[in-house]
Amino acid sequence: MRIIYLIGFMGTGKSSVAKLLSEISGIGFFDTDQLIEAKANMSVSDFFDAYGEEEFRKIETEVLRDISNDDNQKIVSCGGGLPLKEENCKLMKKSGKTILLTASPETVFNRIANNKERPLLRDNMNADYIEEMMEKRKDAYLKASDYIIYTDGKTPKAIAEEITELL
Ligand code: S3P
Repeated sequence: MRIIYLIGFMGTGKSSVAKLLSEISGIGFFDTDQLIEAKANMSVSDFFDAYGEEEFRKIETEVLRDISNDDNQKIVSCGGGLPLKEENCKLMKKSGKTILLTASPETVFNRIANNKERPLLRDNMNADYIEEMMEKRKDAYLKASDYIIYTDGKTPKAIAEEITELL
């Protein structure tokens, strides 16, 4: 398998798990948000403020296209909104496998409540809003996923081990 894409809502542990998986397997780790930040030379949050979500989504697809065109095996943590775009799903499907990490709205809230780097939740950081947003995204996430891992109550290490067994 060429590329392992970790997808799912904000705060489901994609980055932590991807980093651990990379350590365990020795396969390189990439994070689409980090790549966007390097390309734009600013934080995701500042990018949203300066250029808006539509522009962010364009760069997100550019970054994903570069990743998927490169033949090297890698583990990629994807921004939470990335699988909502059909074009992105096609790029992932043709270059690797996707693993959806899920968590309850309460778990997500507890994991990210104090983090200011989530522009889409900045004005609505509460479990009800998170649940609403998750519900809207649910079908797209399920459609985009090859495997699903439930993360509630699990450590990143336990999740990484579960993925290692799965693959
Ligand atoms: C987003 C998730 C974020 C980041 C941006 C938009 C989303 O990534 O890409 O704030 O639409 O869910 P994480 O899932 O890594 O927090």
